[in-house]
Amino acid sequence: MTTTTKKYTLTAALPYANGALHLGHLAGVYVPADIYARFLRLRGEDVLFVCGSDEHGAAITMRAKKEGISPQAIIDKYHGLNKETFEKLGISFDFYGRTSSAVHKETAQEFFTHLYQKNEFEERPSEQLYDEKFQQFLADRYIVGTCPKCAHTEAYGDQCERCGSDLSPDELINPRSVLSGEKPVLRPTKHWYFLLNKHADWLLEWVKNGKVGNQQLHNAADWREHVKGQCYSWLLGGLQPRAITRDLDWGVPVPLVEAAGKVLYVWFDAPIGYISASKEWAASQGKNWEDYWKKDAELVHFIGKDNIVFHCVIFPAMLKSYGEFVLPKNVPANQFLNLEGRKFSKSKGWVIEQHEYLKDFATFANKEDALRYALIKILPENSDSDFKWDEFAAAHDNELADNLGNFINRVLSLTQKYYQGQVPAYNTNAFPELRTELKAQLELIEKMIANYQFKDAMTEVMRLSSRFGNAFLQEQAPWKIYNQEPNAPIIADTLGFGLEIATLLSLLLYPFLPFTSDKIRTMLGLSSCADLEKIGVNNYQNLSEIILKAGHNLGTVEILFAKINDKKDPSRAQLLEAQKAKFAAMKKQFEAEEAAQARAEATKPKEAVSFDEFSKMDLRIGTIISAEAVKKSDKLLKLQVDLGSEIRTVMSGIAQHYQPQNVINQQVVLVANLAPLKIMNVESHGMILMASDDTGKMCFVSPTIAISSGAIVK
Ligand code: MF3
Ligand code: ZN
Repeated sequence: MTTTTKKYTLTAALPYANGALHLGHLAGVYVPADIYARFLRLRGEDVLFVCGSDEHGAAITMRAKKEGISPQAIIDKYHGLNKETFEKLGISFDFYGRTSSAVHKETAQEFFTHLYQKNEFEERPSEQLYDEKFQQFLADRYIVGTCPKCAHTEAYGDQCERCGSDLSPDELINPRSVLSGEKPVLRPTKHWYFLLNKHADWLLEWVKNGKVGNQQLHNAADWREHVKGQCYSWLLGGLQPRAITRDLDWGVPVPLVEAAGKVLYVWFDAPIGYISASKEWAASQGKNWEDYWKKDAELVHFIGKDNIVFHCVIFPAMLKSYGEFVLPKNVPANQFLNLEGRKFSKSKGWVIEQHEYLKDFATFANKEDALRYALIKILPENSDSDFKWDEFAAAHDNELADNLGNFINRVLSLTQKYYQGQVPAYNTNAFPELRTELKAQLELIEKMIANYQFKDAMTEVMRLSSRFGNAFLQEQAPWKIYNQEPNAPIIADTLGFGLEIATLLSLLLYPFLPFTSDKIRTMLGLSSCADLEKIGVNNYQNLSEIILKAGHNLGTVEILFAKINDKKDPSRAQLLEAQKAKFAAMKKQFEAEEAAQARAEATKPKEAVSFDEFSKMDLRIGTIISAEAVKKSDKLLKLQVDLGSEIRTVMSGIAQHYQPQNVINQQVVLVANLAPLKIMNVESHGMILMASDDTGKMCFVSPTIAISSGAIVK
């Protein structure tokens, strides 16, 4: 029983309600957040886990335009889809809100007004691109043009998706409006800027040392290095005042008379969405939302790395400016997940959407946990990682089915067989060494989870099944003893310990694989871990939840994970093959497209040069007088080239096209004034001009008649 009144508030990034979510989102944010929420709840902690739809910003209105429907229709569609899919995958939000709600509008406006009154803002005139035909100011995403860095003609006003550069709309060459296609004009406007610069010093001290003033708020060593690294680059780069209003007609209206027609910047209102969701939840539960955001509440933000600055710099500055709010205790942001070696790309179809997975795997037993398990194994906690169907299948069969499923099945079937499905009386202190080792293992797991190392923690939980489960049973081999002496106490001790491990697994797996946990508990004749949240399981030693009473009736034994690789039933292998084939075909097509693009790039006409620039080249006819192969190189020949007045040593990459003996007396064009270059430890003085085409052919460029060595080419 927990006596603490401490509250935990866990937030998961509010996804834009402009599309379905994919496995990258799940692994990056929602699965890890859910693990932590379930872990704390099972310990009996008072947890509020919130998320919801981010329904403002250009992402929504752009999508609406693309689909030819209203922004409201877009958010309704995707809010519903995402909320429902999260539920199906067992993501246990206490509340899934939306930023179009009335409570949110009121909360965000009040937040703005409060900061406004505290002089945290500054009003500044500016000039902004405007679409005269549509009579509206253009948000960055509404302007496209040519990227100044890579010449991509469809770069956005804030970013080029081809080369990844961050841009501002005035950098685009030939900017045009997404709405009308016409060239936008600059128009004067004014906006309110949050004076972030005022907060740089304390933010730096907070991120670096976990201190604000003389208060130690967290231990800086607990924050992930990559998270702090991103914060430093923002904080040391100099924080600028940041515009928090926009000239748009979709969003939370700015609550100032002089700001008619303006809305709050989406990144100002969205994180406040965590607070409004908390308010709506508290109202529905008869609780006080402030208990979860003030005093000693512990706030943790789960996000992807692209959201770090908003959660570690801007939102904390907003919270502190407002006053009374706690700052996040940690922001365990994840890096990115890739798919079969490539970045997820919705537009290219290179994506596994979570609701699509559920649909495609509809007939696959325990598909939710099969996916959760595969993702947790590769959580991108400290570096990017990669989802592969082959690994999904291998982990499912080797670890979930052969290790976990097999252990649970064995211990329960044996108890069924020897004791008619009833827990036997046994010595709960048997195997003292193993129990000591187990205790250390449980402490390690607790520590890892408390440290947000979920990937490692799950590996250690699975060791319970392998080391303390299967290997233990194998060592004791109760079936051998049973044949000789069916009443030997060691059999009861062995199965009793095995049942303790099975019960522990049902508890420890609850944060990771909640559906599996429930299944195991049903087989053990126990109720769901969700029922234990009210009491709290704080210590796994000698707990009545773990040591089942003698005579307790177990449930029926069922298969936990049906193997994919199953000769008798190929249906699951076929599902996997279909996925693999789909992605392999796409990959092949991408590779062909990329090769074509690389060729086009290579053969593209080059920029014009002036005659003066061209005349700087000293091109001469040379005659090759000797040629030899170069050791350790299958590309190079070492040549002596007669230039009339001198003999040059030239290293040339022609070995795959010419034999040394066949190039003697060959006349070639030499770039004679190329700066000398050391190649394979030989100084090369000049370069021979070669012609090549995209079939892989290559040849010398040589005079059509014999001409003196040293003749000038111009
Ligand atoms: N919608 C944003 C995104 O998908 C995340 C918003 S998180 C919040 O990147 F804190 F602003 F809510
Ligand atoms: Zn670019």
